[in-house]
Amino acid sequence: MNKRILGKTGFAVSEIGLGCWQLGNDFGPVEDKEAQEILQTAVAEGVCFFDTADVYGGGISEQRIGEWRKGLAESPIIATKVGRDAALYPNGYSKASVKKSLQESAKRLGVESIDLAQLHCVPREVLFAGDILAWMEDLKKEGVIKHFGASVEMLDEAKFCCEHPEIASLQILFNVFRQDAVTSLFPIAEENNVGIIVRLPLASGLLSGKMSLNHQFDERDHRSYNKDGAAFHVGETFNGIPFEKGVALVEALKAKLPEGQNILDVSLRWILDQPQVSSIIAGASRSSQVVRNAAASSLPPLSKDLHVLLADFYRDDVRAEIRGGI
Ligand SMILES: NC(=O)c1ccc[n+]([C@@H]2O[C@H](COP(=O)([O-])OP(=O)(O)OC[C@H]3O[C@@H](n4cnc5c(N)ncnc54)[C@H](OP(=O)(O)O)[C@@H]3O)[C@@H](O)[C@H]2O)c1
Repeated sequence: MNKRILGKTGFAVSEIGLGCWQLGNDFGPVEDKEAQEILQTAVAEGVCFFDTADVYGGGISEQRIGEWRKGLAESPIIATKVGRDAALYPNGYSKASVKKSLQESAKRLGVESIDLAQLHCVPREVLFAGDILAWMEDLKKEGVIKHFGASVEMLDEAKFCCEHPEIASLQILFNVFRQDAVTSLFPIAEENNVGIIVRLPLASGLLSGKMSLNHQFDERDHRSYNKDGAAFHVGETFNGIPFEKGVALVEALKAKLPEGQNILDVSLRWILDQPQVSSIIAGASRSSQVVRNAAASSLPPLSKDLHVLLADFYRDDVRAEIRGGI
């Protein structure tokens, strides 16, 4: 597993990290045993960067990570998020409420100080007002957190964050079906030494290539109840693309790929071919997926022709289908 430096944190993170939303049972139920297996498999595959949030399963994801890390000789790097808990979102933000929320996360994770605390898609007016960033600076000085970053939905929010002197990393929606950041964000992130963490690398699983129109999702799975954005931002589920359209686009792209190229590997490798990306936090609901995704770090870069094909396909066929803005 290759590693890259995560912006101003200086942390050497695995190119493939683990997204732990699934460990909160938000993609359908994951048993405790399977959750532990997913985490252990990740470490065995060289994954040393984990992404979670206080709200995943109402704290279950953090708790499971905390239990598991107790037994480890060396702790991996764990990033969590703050700002979507009911006590804060949408208008309960204060330094005290943010601090309390982070301290509760630290307790569940079993750490003294959080490696990386990310603002969790806080309302744009809260982000742009800037107070919350000043509180994060204070909380870093106080030792509650070691570094802070932001997870954002829109590229203008991402660009705003890049200008902040202490933001270490940005977590963004980015995949072959959402490519705008390559030109509109990455140069400014690189200039400001802000590490890029990629979420939804497989567009909630669409780009694994395994989904068909009759795919059934558990009623507790966000891909069932949020497929059109009924519960939270539509972009977070299937990348904002209507499910049926997404399946059709995946099939069309598969047909264009050179022989022997698989859409899942191509999707992950395409992201790693962007030098500004530090880590892909691929989500996994079973350990076999972790093994498969980790292997992308060892794949050779895609050819120039394939990069052109993917850029053209995105521009001509995909971009207009994304709902919720970019
Ligand atoms: N606002 C935010 O900050 C925010 C929002 C969303 C996500 N995130 C973070 O980003 C992480 C990644 O995003 P995501 O999980 O939503 O999207 P994703 O990584 O694009 O998709 C994950 C899903 O893809 C499928 N999958 C993964 N690997 C596979 C493989 N090798 N073969 C077949 N299917 C595979 C699984 O679906 P099945 O479960 O159907 O098998 C898995 O649940 C999350 O876990 C979370 O940590 C953050």
